[in-house]
Amino acid sequence: MTDTLEERQAKLKAIAAEIAACQKCPLYRSRTRTVPGVGPADARIMFIGEAPGFHEDQQGLPFVGASGKYLTELLAGVGIDRKDVYIANVVKCRPPENRDPAEGELQACADYLDRQIAAIQPAIIITLGRYSMAKYFPDGRITRIHGQPKRKDGRIYYPMFHPAAVLRNINLKPEMEADMRRVLDLIKEAEDAGDPGKDDDPGPAEKPVQLSLF
Ligand code: URA
Ligand code: SF4
Repeated sequence: MTDTLEERQAKLKAIAAEIAACQKCPLYRSRTRTVPGVGPADARIMFIGEAPGFHEDQQGLPFVGASGKYLTELLAGVGIDRKDVYIANVVKCRPPENRDPAEGELQACADYLDRQIAAIQPAIIITLGRYSMAKYFPDGRITRIHGQPKRKDGRIYYPMFHPAAVLRNINLKPEMEADMRRVLDLIKEAEDAGDPGKDDDPGPAEKPVQLSLF
């Protein structure tokens, strides 16, 4: 049985509360706010980035700085409203000076993301950059495998460049945009396949806000 929207929301809320109190790795010392993730608890698409930066740490929300603005534009460019997707990171607290997350920090934080995915049951997981890619494509090199979906256990995994990498190297823009356009095909594929994580029996309180995404 798939969870109802309310059950998924309750799970995400509980996970976010744990993250807010978490001291499992040293990043808790320097964070301003934790950044668990944001979006509908029954989103069919989930984006996974790396770690909060300055603005994310200030606001407690993922992808609200320059990378986030670009991600929002990329989504809008293919007709997807950012509000319809779930957005999270592999690490929930900002690394000092935006350094790369350390192996121990990635490991300490992994369980939160895994539980968020289990709650949301997205049909499509899109990784942004190397750190989230490594979770699903351990031997993958981003320059080679970006834009190539992998199907596993009824879910589509799709690696993309990190928006910040594209902002640093504007030559990647056409490829990034082409990769985002392919997301529309993946949505169609997931729809046609029938989506095991979709709540087919919505309670009376649920509004069909996500019709554009299945
Ligand atoms: N970069 C990320 O990987 N995640 C954010 O939330 C913001 C920038
Ligand atoms: Fe906990 Fe993750 Fe923050 Fe480390 S980064 S303190 S594991 S929530």
